[in-house]
Order: sequence, then structure tokens, then C-alpha cells
Amino acid sequence: MNNIPDIIIAVDGNSSTGKSTFAKMVASEFGFLYLDSGAMYRGVTLAGLEAGVIADGKIDEAALLPVMEPLNLHFRREEGATKLFLGERCIEKEIRGWEVSQYVSPASAIPQVRNWVDNKLHAFAAGGRVIMDGRDIGTTVFPNAELKIFMTADPAVRAQRRYEELLQKGEKTTLEEVQENLKDRDYRDSHRPTSPLRQAPDAYVLDNTHMTLHEELVWTLGLLQGKFGILESPGLSC
Ligand code: DC
Repeated sequence: MNNIPDIIIAVDGNSSTGKSTFAKMVASEFGFLYLDSGAMYRGVTLAGLEAGVIADGKIDEAALLPVMEPLNLHFRREEGATKLFLGERCIEKEIRGWEVSQYVSPASAIPQVRNWVDNKLHAFAAGGRVIMDGRDIGTTVFPNAELKIFMTADPAVRAQRRYEELLQKGEKTTLEEVQENLKDRDYRDSHRPTSPLRQAPDAYVLDNTHMTLHEELVWTLGLLQGKFGILESPGLSC
């Protein structure tokens, strides 16, 4: 039984707070389409790299725009997961690679790139029943989203989580380096001129410093039930 209405849920917050894990879990639990806005910025960056207009530490902005305009970037559901495609090609792996990660932050700061991604996200969400995560979804992309969640956690806990994730991937780093990097990203995310990371005034704050994923899900269910007057409780699978 699922009596959650067809709404748009916007999930924003600091990096390494588990936004995408949370959004994917809510999507699968309540039958929503999950859209990863960061993946769209990664897709544009990958296309720029492949076209040679992003290279040698530089982004040729004027040349990137005509590369981006005709791109057929879209999400498809495959094996229960939402994946990013460029035309018929699944680019989910490539967009998570080191090279894309190096350039995606400056690429996502270009206003025309943000505008292009926002328009695509609007088109994807036209059917409703969507959960989207990012940095500006509840403030800029979907200011009228029916439910806005802002995720945060203690910086020390976020750094520890990120550090363990990187170790698992086999990357060599230190906890101090990760802490510095997070501090830097928090600063850049919240101080950039276009769409800085801000908590929407009507967002519900989810501080998951001391929460398990299951507890996050129970919290969300409570929120949805309260907000939409749902009395009957769907059983949670996890
Ligand atoms: O969440 P992520 O690491 O995949 O995001 C990739 C980049 O895109 C990151 O630099 C932040 C940026 N981003 C953004 O500016 N706005 C969004 N809505 C989502 C991501």
C-alpha cells in the first residue's frame, strides 16, 4: 500500500551527508523516480572533456556551450537503479571518474550550464512523483517542491564517512586531507555567486549525525504522514 501523493521532493545539503543514498532509498521505498542533478553536471563535463573543450586545467566556456546544447542526456531506470545516458550510451561509470570530478565544480558554476541543466530537470520532473538531490533544488530549481529536505551532519562525522569511503575505493589519503577538502567544498558551495547552497526557509532539516539509514526512512515517513494527513502506515522494507 502506498498512499504517498505524486509530489516533488527536493533534497539539498552539504557534501558527504549521504544525500544520494538517502534519495535513492526514499525513491525505492515509496515508488518515486530518483533524479541525480549532480550527474547532469558530470555528464556535461564528460562531453566537454571528450570534445576537447575542457583540457589542461581549463574550460573553454564559449566552446563548451555549443557542445552542450544538442546533448541528449537523460536518465533511464535499469536493474532498479536510475542511470545517466548520453544518447544510447550509459555513462554512469565515466561520470564518476577522477577526470570528471576534477572539472565538474567549475563547470557547474557556469550560469549557462546551470540554466541548461535546470531546464532538463524541469522536463524530467514534468510527470511528478520525483525525488531529486543537489545543492539548489529546493531554492532555485524547484522552489515550489511540495517537500523540501535539507541534509546536514557534524563535519567531523562527514569527514570520517568520506574518508572510509575513499579508503574502500583504494584511494590514498589522510583524514586531515579529507577534513580540509570538505571545509573547502562547504565554503565554495555556499559562497559561489550562482545558486549558492542555502537552506530553503520551508525545508525540514535532517541532521543524520547519529542516525542510521533506517532511522532516516522512519523520519521521512513520519514527515510525509504528518504533512499529507496519511493515517495508514505503509510497511517499510528496510
Ligand atoms: O553531487 P555530485 O558530487 O555528483 O555533484 C557534482 C558537482 O555538481 C559538484 O561540484 C556540485 C555540483 N552540483 C551543483 O552545483 N548543483 C546541483 N544541484 C548538484 C550538483
